[in-house]
Amino acid sequence: MKYILFSMATALTIFSVSCKNNSVEALSNGSICDTSAVKYSTTIKSMMNNHCTNCHGGASPSAGLRLENYNDLVLRGQASLQRMKSSSNPMPPSGKIDDCNINKLATWINQGSLNN
Ligand code: HEC
Repeated sequence: MKYILFSMATALTIFSVSCKNNSVEALSNGSICDTSAVKYSTTIKSMMNNHCTNCHGGASPSAGLRLENYNDLVLRGQASLQRMKSSSNPMPPSGKIDDCNINKLATWINQGSLNN
């Protein structure tokens, strides 16, 4: 029984990881999200610039958190992802950004937060 549970958990983990990595998937709103070519330089940096760095950047960043460059983000990537997924306390505070962008950040983190 333990073995069966373990196998199921492993299969589920592999399934959910493979769903997040290198894939084109349908979101719950029916749109298609392509996370197959996510890179820091082409995807993540502009996402942070568009949605985060007006507060989390400059001389006095909100919460002391800077998200302007790779070295800043790599330290707080997971925390950023958690807040971006949160419905009760989202970042940006004005409301959740689209799921595809959130999936792209998750993919980048799952792939090891590379400076690519
Ligand atoms: C309008 C300004 C504003 C924007 C835009 C914004 N934030 Fe924030 N953020 C704040 C403020 C103010 C706090 C501190 C209060 C709080 O935690 O809610 C904060 C807190 C946080 C924290 C918790 C601090 C910590 O040390 O863990 C994280 C993580 C975070 N923001 C990530 C982001 C990310 C990622 C984005 C872009 C997707 C973003 N924020 C966009 C204002 C902003």
